[in-house]
Amino acid sequence: MDFRLVGLTRRFGSNTAVDSVTLDIPAGQMVGVIGRSGAGKSTLLRMINRLADPTSGSILFGDVDVSKLHGKALRNWQRDCAMIFQQFNLVPRLDVLTNVLLGRLNHRSTALSLLNIFTREERLMAIAALERLGIEQTALQAAGTLSGGQQQRVAIARALMQSPKMVLADEPIASLDPLNAKIVMDALRSINENDGITVITNLHTLDTARNYCERIIGMARGRVVFDGRPDELTATAVQEIYGSDRDGAGIDETMTSTSITLSPAADLAAPASADFRPAVPAKA
Ligand SMILES: Nc1ncnc2c1ncn2[C@@H]1O[C@H](COP(=O)(O)OP(=O)(O)O)[C@@H](O)[C@H]1O
Ligand SMILES: [Mg+2]
Repeated sequence: MDFRLVGLTRRFGSNTAVDSVTLDIPAGQMVGVIGRSGAGKSTLLRMINRLADPTSGSILFGDVDVSKLHGKALRNWQRDCAMIFQQFNLVPRLDVLTNVLLGRLNHRSTALSLLNIFTREERLMAIAALERLGIEQTALQAAGTLSGGQQQRVAIARALMQSPKMVLADEPIASLDPLNAKIVMDALRSINENDGITVITNLHTLDTARNYCERIIGMARGRVVFDGRPDELTATAVQEIYGSDRDGAGIDETMTSTSITLSPAADLAAPASADFRPAVPAKA
């Protein structure tokens, strides 16, 4: 089902965080949203998931106006578009398996949820999700004892348990080292390619967006200033996305790349060569 944002706007007082964003996102796309800090990326994703309410505009999934949902229909929507956060948002003291099973809560009756009873099928589904992400051996560990990369994989397994139609990821690799960043981005790619699920991910680095996303949306000051394929993202477009913020500061390489030194603007348009260069062997 196609997904559309029409004139989506969110104001905080006099500050317009997201300013009249209109986008069509066909089912099954892998979309990267880039832009400097404060551009409105998180607010955009949070509105889609209805963690934040729009000031105006609409969010349309097929014929449904998501911005008007409430109650059970709203909870169903939040199940359908699973959210992944920079800081994982797991329950650290609960074991990994239970954290993953929590993704199932919106599929269940309140009574069963309160009793925390999961069926055998749900447990098998959770283990299969953990296996898919290569972390089944952590199932009985407290989630808080895992490395950041492992925790983000648990969060992805939890998202899969929601049987989502869409996955929204807000800077999912911003807290990870390059090797774990690659593992997490590869997992998102696999969900997109193998399961056909639409993925919309905010990314703080340009090279990751180029390497993983078929479509890149560039935001600046709440507006969409670029929307196209990675090969259309020229130095001029990059300049427009990152070139100036509300305070007029210039491009800072830390916000466009974790692995490439950006000096001449021309480099920005060149395809990223090696996004990830793991310096350490994979940790089991
Ligand atoms: N809850 C909030 N209250 C007030 N202002 C907010 C809130 N959330 C975001 N903003 C403001 O909205 C703008 C966009 O923020 P955000 O969506 O977090 O951008 P990004 O994710 O691109 O860094 C910023 O100016 C930010 O300060
Ligand atoms: Mg953000």
